[in-house]
Amino acid sequence: MNNKIILITGGAGFIGSNFVHQWSKHSAKTIVLDALTYAGNRATLADLESQANFSLIEGDICDAQLVSQILAEHHVDTLIHFAAESHVDRSIAGPAAFVQTNVVGTFTLLEAFRHHWEAQGKPDHYRFLHVSTDEVFGSLGPNDPAFSEVTSYAPNSPYSASKAGSDHLVRAYFHTYGLPTLITNCSNNYGPYQFPEKLIPLMCLNILLGKSLPVYGDGQNIRDWLHVEDHCSAIATVLGQAQPGETYNIGGNNQVKNIDIVEQLCDLMDELAENLPVSPARKLITFVPDRPGHDRRYAMDITKIRNDLGWQPSYDFATGLRQTVGWYLDNRDWWQPLLSEDYQRYYSELYAERMALD
Ligand code: NAD
Ligand code: DAU
Repeated sequence: MNNKIILITGGAGFIGSNFVHQWSKHSAKTIVLDALTYAGNRATLADLESQANFSLIEGDICDAQLVSQILAEHHVDTLIHFAAESHVDRSIAGPAAFVQTNVVGTFTLLEAFRHHWEAQGKPDHYRFLHVSTDEVFGSLGPNDPAFSEVTSYAPNSPYSASKAGSDHLVRAYFHTYGLPTLITNCSNNYGPYQFPEKLIPLMCLNILLGKSLPVYGDGQNIRDWLHVEDHCSAIATVLGQAQPGETYNIGGNNQVKNIDIVEQLCDLMDELAENLPVSPARKLITFVPDRPGHDRRYAMDITKIRNDLGWQPSYDFATGLRQTVGWYLDNRDWWQPLLSEDYQRYYSELYAERMALD
């Protein structure tokens, strides 16, 4: 990371902001380009905005002129691409934004970065790192082996299909133009600064507010959970060590059923929070009709990144989950403004069909 001039797209979102907090001190300069959609939050980066080697630019990755201008003006040599529409439920309700940002936006960045790299004489040290997901591989049965880097793509939601499309474009730019690209496919992240729509923060905030905890289907779906700081260290490792054109799977070796997570969150909240409106919090658990096309199980085989680059997760899940619950308890000022009218409307539209709202 040392001496790099890094453009980070989506740096005001969950994983991007954690990456910036963890790693921007190691780079010569960090520029965040973020459209500040509902999921992007300027306040998350407020502590960095006064630093000379950091800037936040509000703008859309689909704006080719803006992207080219940033690359040239700041002499960017490294682009880490986090920006995306990221929530599966929203992709079911409104897929167009997913195709626009995830496919057209990634294409726009690739084109701009390619011209910039070519104009500089194709320097060897330039990198375009695309942050992707395990969801591109589809759904596993109970006894299937974990996804590896050679597993076929089989996306099942508009979100994962749009991410798969973006992965294919990145791959094609390496093979066709020799652009020095890298792809990481990661499993479910958890930790500080995650938007309240996602499973873990949603359950934490609903427990604090005494609202029902909507568990989709039978609650037996499995995800492979990884602490966001471990995801960020994996990205930094890939950026620093991997050969252009490579892809790496990243995961926590940590397969957990949704219902087990929700129960653990209830127990942690009972222990750590004061004056919960409903206690024990498990009384709030409500099974609701399933998400359409809901993938049953994800699991990542992380042999390649462990053997080739020496990375492995450092958090154990019990410690990470306790820390995350503590963070949401201590940072009401961060999440309270996010429960805006727009968010309440989204919440009602998604959940009113499934259950009686509190
Ligand atoms: P997020 O939704 O929290 O943040 C996305 C950020 O992108 C926001 O700051 C948003 O304002 C910005 N953005 C959206 N559209 C934009 C546009 N057109 N132009 C510029 N900025 C735009 O997402 P996240 O959970 O931090 O995910 C980051 C990346 O990691 C995504 O590419 C996602 O697919 C991938 N990923 C996420 C997870 C996970 O568990 N959250 C796991 C694996 C991979
Ligand atoms: O696997 C990586 C992916 O993880 C990322 O690519 C996505 O950007 C990220 O959003 C996440 O996708 P999921 O769909 O797995 O995450 P979500 O938090 O929405 O849901 C996790 C599980 O919990 C999933 O099986 C659906 C279930 N769920 C979710 C919500 C919001 C519920 O049972 N109830 C809920 O209210």
